[in-house]
Amino acid sequence: MAAAKKRLLTGLQSSGTLHIGNYFGALKPFLDTYQQYHSMLMVADYHSLTTVKDAALLRTNIVNVVLDYLGIGINPEEVIIFQQSRVPQHTELAWIFECLVSVPFLMQAHAYKDKVAKGLEANAGLFNYPMLMATDILLYDTDIVPVGKDQQQHIEYAREAAVKFNNAFGPTFKEPKELILKGAGTVPGIDGEKMSKSYGNTIPLFGTKDEIAKTVMSIVTDSSGERPANVYAIHKLFKADAELETLYSANKGNYKALKEALIEEIEAFVAPMRERRENYAKDLDSVKKVLEEGSEKAREMAEKKMTAVREKVGVTI
Ligand code: TYM
Repeated sequence: MAAAKKRLLTGLQSSGTLHIGNYFGALKPFLDTYQQYHSMLMVADYHSLTTVKDAALLRTNIVNVVLDYLGIGINPEEVIIFQQSRVPQHTELAWIFECLVSVPFLMQAHAYKDKVAKGLEANAGLFNYPMLMATDILLYDTDIVPVGKDQQQHIEYAREAAVKFNNAFGPTFKEPKELILKGAGTVPGIDGEKMSKSYGNTIPLFGTKDEIAKTVMSIVTDSSGERPANVYAIHKLFKADAELETLYSANKGNYKALKEALIEEIEAFVAPMRERRENYAKDLDSVKKVLEEGSEKAREMAEKKMTAVREKVGVTI
């Protein structure tokens, strides 16, 4: 008998513009493998409420994430694309997990720790963020979660939530595994640091050619070496090592030519996806329908799981 198909799931926050770090870290591994699995893509809109406090912006961002999913080439017939807030079982289960883990455990989360280390006030949503994310994964018996390296700790938190629940109430949740692609776990930004919206060092995936050119031209280079390390690190995502060697050997010290080559490379890669995204954007009603129908399916699955969970914790009388 053939083995049952496993579950693949990942998500993006609806908090900004998709960049090439998001693409290579999380979406490409999803795109490359999703047809082998029962696959789900989530819009983590409640997670983005930890930072976005503008309703009109959030609404736009949510639709933009779906457009990003469709633009990169996801076939909505083959993936359940859903919106976290439309499946209230997520926040319901998050509460139950929060009652199982300790405050010191959550205080170890990088996102929370970094905020506090910077002397900034973290909201309680950010503090509880890992438990909401655990529900995103565990409600659907997810096996594999393609993510960037910065999310690894969150997958560990999800496993811990599963173990804590199973120990307390009996076997219920699967322990998921992260899928982190070698060479793309931490995509560097234009300053060589991790590419991140919050560092302002991103190259937008769906930028116009001019926007791409502008950001690539501003990649930080030092004048000492023959090879601009920050340009090379990004170029590696788009071109095979052997070809890159030839290009960089032929253009030693010519940073401008190398940056121009990278712009062409990104443009060639992005143009078909950008066109597909633009086509979907012409019919936003259909895009919203994808999200509505996907959320309906996710809700049914989540409710089935929560029926068992409510029974196990004892809130059904
Ligand atoms: P988010 O929206 O910040 O980022 C989305 C995905 O992009 C990856 N990523 C990177 N990968 C490589 N290099 C980089 N420079 C880089 N920057 C971002 C992130 O690792 C992530 O995989 N908590 C999640 C959203 C989420 C989620 C989930 C993900 C909520 N629930 C359930 C998976 C499963 C987040 O903030 O991602």
